[in-house]
Amino acid sequence: MSKFPKDFLWGGATAANQIEGGWDEDGKGLAGSDMVAYVPKEIRGLKSAAIDVSSDRIDEILSGKFEGRFPKRHGIDFYHKYKDDIALFGEMGFKCFRISIHWARIFPNGYDEQPNEAGLKYYDDMFDEMHKHGIEPMVTLSHYETPLGLTQKYNGWLGREVIAHFVRYAKTVFNRYKGKVKYWLTFNEINMVTMHSAYCGAGVVLDRVEASQQESAKYQALHHQFLASSLATKALHEIDPNAKIGCMLARLHHYALTADPADQRQAQWGNQQNLFFTDVHARGEYPKYMLRHWAENNVQIQKEVGDDEILKQHTVDYISFSYYMSLAVTTHPQEDGDIGGNLLHGVKNPYLKASDWGWQIDPVGLRITLNDMYDRYQKPLFIVENGLGAYDQVENGKIHDSYRIDYLKAHIEQMAEAIADGVDLWGYLEWGPIDLVSMSTSEMSKRYGFIYVDIDDDGNGTGERIRKDSFYWYKKVIASNGEDL
Ligand code: BG6
Repeated sequence: MSKFPKDFLWGGATAANQIEGGWDEDGKGLAGSDMVAYVPKEIRGLKSAAIDVSSDRIDEILSGKFEGRFPKRHGIDFYHKYKDDIALFGEMGFKCFRISIHWARIFPNGYDEQPNEAGLKYYDDMFDEMHKHGIEPMVTLSHYETPLGLTQKYNGWLGREVIAHFVRYAKTVFNRYKGKVKYWLTFNEINMVTMHSAYCGAGVVLDRVEASQQESAKYQALHHQFLASSLATKALHEIDPNAKIGCMLARLHHYALTADPADQRQAQWGNQQNLFFTDVHARGEYPKYMLRHWAENNVQIQKEVGDDEILKQHTVDYISFSYYMSLAVTTHPQEDGDIGGNLLHGVKNPYLKASDWGWQIDPVGLRITLNDMYDRYQKPLFIVENGLGAYDQVENGKIHDSYRIDYLKAHIEQMAEAIADGVDLWGYLEWGPIDLVSMSTSEMSKRYGFIYVDIDDDGNGTGERIRKDSFYWYKKVIASNGEDL
């Protein structure tokens, strides 16, 4: 008997701004992601994100004065090639494929009264295509794609008005795709809102806020997103009671580097700061530890009467998260200094190896976090991102990516352990099953795919798709329901 439930949802995950392209086609508006220029590694460094967008840069771009390349405007041309790409996912046996609807395709400025029919039709056709191949769509409503119109008019999610615009957008797509989409997510990696501004966060340009108020502004924007997520949850339950809606967290498990209680406490606080987001989504209230932190750090958010009830009444049906690595923290000075992901910081964990981008690879950490999260919430979990960003070599038209297979195999094994531990896990979606533009670096050479895409960091290439060794491996994994690794 398989270690995985018989209806386990194997598949892959993407985001519109990293694959679609077609940035100005069929009435689509601009989003923060369209404003992120490519910065070569020599200038940017390996890890630094280079994804924030300043007010000056937006002005420069809009007035045509900025000369640069914007990879997220072009993606991998999924906008035109989606039928062939979905056929490849079908060939691998995908049960589920996660996309995001690009909000600015449906409401080009974000605040428009009427939706753009061409945008709605595009996703209608795409969902039909998925179903033709027996693939269940999972849809993220907002994956770093806040329309630029909302940034310019309200400073993004800092403006409470944006809640109503988001709910209008959510209701529009829930009504349109009722019966076609069973799995929805509100905000991708909602915890990024407190780390980055216009692009990654919530369409908020932080330099438009007084320095002393910037921390409060991030949490204010987050409060609005929490409310919008709850109201979208309410709307989906009314419009399509058979569908499920969840939240999405970039899960970063923190370990203490030593048994020093001060290190243990630091790790606990790191985990609280990370799980705070799912605490609100799943339990429907702000945890006391965060209220204390705000009070001690002069963070203030404005709430309106009824906000707390909205959060309490409409909690998520399931909890989804991305998992790439873990972090180690310590209060003791370290020679190696800072290491971690592209967005967070920690110290070197001597027991783990890291990817070429410094992300510390930790399959057992996945089992730990699945157990922790299930113990904490007792709600179904869904891994909606996991994978290895790596440099691939094409040799005689083939890509032998055994390193990717090793990474995925080790994580899937730990996932099976967590299920045996009693965790209710609905599915596993590999990040970037087809190579795509990196979120943090806008590189193409940071590849996650089972399918190679012939485009380089400068945007050159034929765009041809090539099946890697991992393609055939994952096909076998799905066909055996996780038995044949
Ligand atoms: C997650 C995001 O943070 O990680 C994705 O939801 C992103 O959008 C993925 O692509 C991997 O990160 P990166 O920076 O390697 O593209």
